[in-house]
Amino acid sequence: MFKWLAPRPATPQPEALAARIAAAQDPNLATLSFQKFHDLIPSPQAAIDIFKGRWASSFPELDPPVVAGGSPLFTIDHRPRQAGAAFGGETARLDGFKVVELGPLEGGHTYQLEELGADVIAIEGNAEAYLKCLIAKEILGMNSKFLLGDFIKYLEAVEQPFDLVFASGVLYHMVQPLRLIELICQASDRAFLWTHYYDPERCTVFQGAVIEHAGLSVEHFRKGYGDQTHGQFWGGLADAACWLPRDEILRAFQAFGHSQVEVLETNLDHPAGPCFTIVTSR
Ligand SMILES: C[S@@+](CC[C@H](N)C(=O)[O-])C[C@H]1O[C@@H](n2cnc3c(N)ncnc32)[C@H](O)[C@@H]1O
Repeated sequence: MFKWLAPRPATPQPEALAARIAAAQDPNLATLSFQKFHDLIPSPQAAIDIFKGRWASSFPELDPPVVAGGSPLFTIDHRPRQAGAAFGGETARLDGFKVVELGPLEGGHTYQLEELGADVIAIEGNAEAYLKCLIAKEILGMNSKFLLGDFIKYLEAVEQPFDLVFASGVLYHMVQPLRLIELICQASDRAFLWTHYYDPERCTVFQGAVIEHAGLSVEHFRKGYGDQTHGQFWGGLADAACWLPRDEILRAFQAFGHSQVEVLETNLDHPAGPCFTIVTSR
């Protein structure tokens, strides 16, 4: 007897199949994949497009112009200039300063610190971000040194002190934020820090627990990252991070030897949570 055959499920396209297999094996898409062979006319844009659609920063004006991301981290973002104004005296420059920058992402602040005269070593733990830093370095002719790895391990091993630690956007990505503050204070007599912080009225979905570190007993507020597969994840190396309350951050810098702590700017209404900018020194 004739029987209708059950319709066969549509065969997925090879790319969709590859993406599904990759997602099953690597749920956070923590491994990189990009096209290997490029038979284009060589150009800065061709190098930027290795990571097309995955850049955070826009580049400075170039001739011809290039298209990357939307954040003006190489240009308008004023955090490097704030560090220059805080530590550079009348000139507000950082000429000759040996700076260690933690988590440069794509090198935007690195570029600005270099423009202010600093001699920068920047430590980046995300290989995609690190490769973007190298692309930016090549396109913009930067001299800074970029290293791939965990800046905690770098600071633990470093012997020569730096003139300044520049730590923008990293403290709130730490599982042990007090350890990072301790290491920053050991690595230099001066620090610039921009970070989100925990505020009970504005931060929800965090889990609180008191954690001891180096004689300090501080309530930490932990939050998981959730989806990291969208190609615009610029977070930490673990799958969660602990935020500290504002005053505990200030108290920790003082406890670890940076007795001078100045709050330069506070923004309670940042879409990602309250944040502030501080400069500290011994
Ligand atoms: C939110 S982004 C901040 C980027 C930039 N500094 C800024 O302020 O715009 C955090 C950066 O720090 C890097 N990062 C986080 N934890 C790190 C660690 N333990 N070692 C090295 N890099 C880390 C991330 O990969 C990311 O590039």
